[in-house]
Amino acid sequence: PQLVEIAHSENASEPLINLQRFTMSDKPWDGRFSEKTDRSVEAFTSSIQIDKRLYASDIDGSVAHCKMLARAGIISEDESSQLIQGLGKIKREIERGEFEYDDSLEDIHMHVEARLLQEVGKVAQKLHTARSRNDQVALDVRMYLREESRQIIAGLTGLRQTLVDLAESHPETVLPGYTHLQRAQPVLLAHHLLAYFEMFSRDQERFADGLKRINVLPLGAAALAGTTYPIDRHFTAELLDFPQVAENSMDAVSDRDFAIEFLASASLCMIHFSRLSEEFILWSSSEFGFLTLPDAFATGSSIMPQKKNPDVPELVRGKTGRVIGNLMALLTMMKSLPLAYNRDMQEDKEPLFDTVDTLKACIDIYSRMLPRVIFRNERMYEAASTGFLNATDLADYLVSQGMPFRQAHGCSGKAVAYALEQGKELHELTLGELESFSALIKADIFDVLTTKNVVDRRVSFGGTASKNVAAAMERAKSRLESEKKAGSQEE
Ligand code: ARG
Repeated sequence: PQLVEIAHSENASEPLINLQRFTMSDKPWDGRFSEKTDRSVEAFTSSIQIDKRLYASDIDGSVAHCKMLARAGIISEDESSQLIQGLGKIKREIERGEFEYDDSLEDIHMHVEARLLQEVGKVAQKLHTARSRNDQVALDVRMYLREESRQIIAGLTGLRQTLVDLAESHPETVLPGYTHLQRAQPVLLAHHLLAYFEMFSRDQERFADGLKRINVLPLGAAALAGTTYPIDRHFTAELLDFPQVAENSMDAVSDRDFAIEFLASASLCMIHFSRLSEEFILWSSSEFGFLTLPDAFATGSSIMPQKKNPDVPELVRGKTGRVIGNLMALLTMMKSLPLAYNRDMQEDKEPLFDTVDTLKACIDIYSRMLPRVIFRNERMYEAASTGFLNATDLADYLVSQGMPFRQAHGCSGKAVAYALEQGKELHELTLGELESFSALIKADIFDVLTTKNVVDRRVSFGGTASKNVAAAMERAKSRLESEKKAGSQEE
């Protein structure tokens, strides 16, 4: 459709977009070229439809660059303030949706510069002094990702708070814990939920850690080798709140490892979401029946009236593939690229933006849905109390009576096989039946075998006993609390 549009505009007497009339010449590199860029090449190389999203960082970066140029005496104060004023106006124009885009202007950097020329006249031609689009785009992406990382970190904090609240509102609920998707040992629902609290805490830490490497100023690297002008990169860094300035100009314009790290953190976070989603999908099936999704977060079938489908968790699970794909795209794009900038790198933005959007949407929808999930405590308890989830406890009991664990394991296994034959659970066997497996078994075994005690006897640090989980919940809350404090101190 883009090509058709361009072909059409060739015949029209007016250029596609007004902006073109005001560009210095057709292209900033025109000097050494003897023919105009082919329209198909313009369309093919243009990234404006994607990178227009970077407008705010692009303009803020340019404003800081102007201030630095004036301070270093490279342009005058008056020129600098004209440029800054014009840039401010353009930013407001974009924000109001009044800005016109044109493929022939390639990217956001050229659009802003072309519009600035209209706005402030010839002085606009000084904006790009001591700068290249190579360091400019690296700056824009870093500023963009810095802001998005902070938002994602805040979103994950909220999600973790939601998980703790949810855990707190189910202090007694027991469900089967699984290994190999076979019922293994009963655990508290709160314990299960806090497992996700830990996963998302690590995700959040990864984003925060990545932020340190995103937050490095590349501007001033110019095309690749630095610049002849007496620029002050540390001053620009101060203006843009970068704690660090990139050491090496070639590295500054040519690596996207910070973006790849971000995508890796996002992929892991999505993997955690996908696991939670998978469980919610299973648990909402009639086979499990452990939970009911709120109607507002489920959909029906257009043909089968009885159905209520877990589309939200399913889509989150599906979107995980997309985010991992984005990580693969960027890794593959960067692989074997020689120093320094290569146009291949323009391809970094789509996967990056898509990942930001996808991850934020998943964090948001889960934060809304989680508090409304209805857990079916009786179904969970029933499942946790059948299927010999207390067999380990029978073995542990025998160990406490002096039997070596391997032997106790065998003994309990025989009791399970016998109970299976009888169509009974271990705790439904008589003391007489149990005694036949070991004389060490006494009447107090029945206390050991109750579901509640099976849970509450797992008192090792990090285990599922009620009092451990209550303490873990307190620790989780104080972690969130101290993060909040540290956050407000930063502001
Ligand atoms: N649109 C380009 C990108 O995103 C900006 C840098 C262009 N640099 C160049 N030498 N062509 O990578």
